[in-house]
Amino acid sequence: MYIDSHCHITCDDLYNRKEEVIQNMQELSGAMIMCTNQEEFLRALPIKEKDARFKIAWGWFPGDAKEISENHYQILQAAIDTNQIDCLGEIGLDYHWDDTFKDTQKEVFIRQIEMANQANLPISIHMRDATKDCLSILKEHAKTKIIFHCFSGSLEILRQCLEMDSFISLAGPVTFKNARKAVNIAKECPLDRLLTETDSPYMCPEPFRGHQNEPMYVQYVAKKIAELKGMDLAEVCKQIETNYASIFA
Ligand code: NI
Repeated sequence: MYIDSHCHITCDDLYNRKEEVIQNMQELSGAMIMCTNQEEFLRALPIKEKDARFKIAWGWFPGDAKEISENHYQILQAAIDTNQIDCLGEIGLDYHWDDTFKDTQKEVFIRQIEMANQANLPISIHMRDATKDCLSILKEHAKTKIIFHCFSGSLEILRQCLEMDSFISLAGPVTFKNARKAVNIAKECPLDRLLTETDSPYMCPEPFRGHQNEPMYVQYVAKKIAELKGMDLAEVCKQIETNYASIFA
């Protein structure tokens, strides 16, 4: 069965048709709902309560760093203290859309890593055009398990990430025709460090590229990894389930 380590099914686009999205997930044994605000988090709670396949991640996104105040940390801390979240994320650095507030992004990132350390929660990392700063912060501060979400780095960056004992999560791009980087990562990353995800509603894998993405499409990511590694799909899926379970053990 398949694992979606990163989906946004409580964002407005997918939440509007959540019954259908969950109904379509019959071949998935696990999925982590990524929440980027309190509304998405409150929507995720009853979904997880009804269906044990779900885990919940919540964190303040780097692009929103300028809006984050003490109050934001407090409401996130309250969710941690009541064991309502399984992972802190997605957190990280994104200089792609806006690099005018790098210091604020770093401050919000480090503060949340420390919250995760204290609660011994894994962290899901969003790293875009900010690899050097992101890795140096993680090396200095992170003490819990790390998931690099939608990994798109070079083999050299992969090597550095693996040294941190992290997990590398691959999404739709590995199925794209021009996706040389992700293809190399799928081939080179040891299977016991790989995860699959959709990042839905974005980045729908082939053969549905351009459609609204949802967790059921994670199968195409897993199938592509099996093909690239020349391995049996069932064996790949089983190892990814084991990897995913080990993050929360
Ligand atoms: Ni995401």
